[in-house]
Amino acid sequence: MNFNRIIIFAICTVMILSVFSSCTNNKNSSPASHSDSLSNDQYKDTAITIDTIPLVDPQPADKEEAEEKAEEKAETEEKDTEGSKEEEETEENEMDSEKDKKNPEITEKDGITYVNGILIANKSYSLPKTYSPGIDTTANNALQQMFSAASNAGISLYVVSGFRSYDTQYNTYYGYVSRSGQADADRYSARPGHSEHQTGLAFDLNSLEQTFGNTKEGKWLKANAHKYGFIIRYPEGKESVTGYMYEPWHVRYLGTDIATDVFESGLCLEEYLGITSVYNN
Ligand code: DAL
Ligand code: ZN
Repeated sequence: MNFNRIIIFAICTVMILSVFSSCTNNKNSSPASHSDSLSNDQYKDTAITIDTIPLVDPQPADKEEAEEKAEEKAETEEKDTEGSKEEEETEENEMDSEKDKKNPEITEKDGITYVNGILIANKSYSLPKTYSPGIDTTANNALQQMFSAASNAGISLYVVSGFRSYDTQYNTYYGYVSRSGQADADRYSARPGHSEHQTGLAFDLNSLEQTFGNTKEGKWLKANAHKYGFIIRYPEGKESVTGYMYEPWHVRYLGTDIATDVFESGLCLEEYLGITSVYNN
């Protein structure tokens, strides 16, 4: 019996010791205890890991789609680049041709101004008092051809004023000044030495009324004059550039090439050449 008691005591002692040991180990491995032990540097590392987390690689189907989209994007970007290059080149060409026109070659011979070889008489460029060439033969021949063509189309055109000398223009201009004042006259009549009529290359046709532009004759002239070498010299809406009000009746001879170029440009002669028309006094 004593032996049995000893065995039971020994078993109980081993069990008690075992339970005590287990409790001690559980306390040292608790989560709270582990968290509390993280240093500041470890927090920092955690933050860095989150910031630099790699993007999830797409699934095969998504991957294909993503690659297709990337290819499309690259192609579009390439086209955009090509397109903008073409646009740049076109703009450069346009700028070059505009630049040529905006950098006119202005020469003077015997007091007469030529812009890119074209004789110019306007508010900025005058003619000598003594310059009196009469009607230009080439211009007059072209005028007669235009009259014939107009006549064939049932249009009657005729001259009401052609060549005017310096003295004639003097009387014409100061007649208007005495009637309506200089500021008014300067809008529709050239000062002596500044009139295109003194060049022998300009003609007033049919009527000196702006309503002429609305007649069938005025419309025919506007649409066809360039074919015979003439331009409507003072177009509607260009007074601030030409210096003169709209004159649908006043044509200026330039030859068919230049007249057609001016006509097709939609510009008035001053704009086309890149010159001004203003008095300096
Ligand atoms: N009527 C135009 C501008 C001239 O007098 O020459
Ligand atoms: Zn005129």
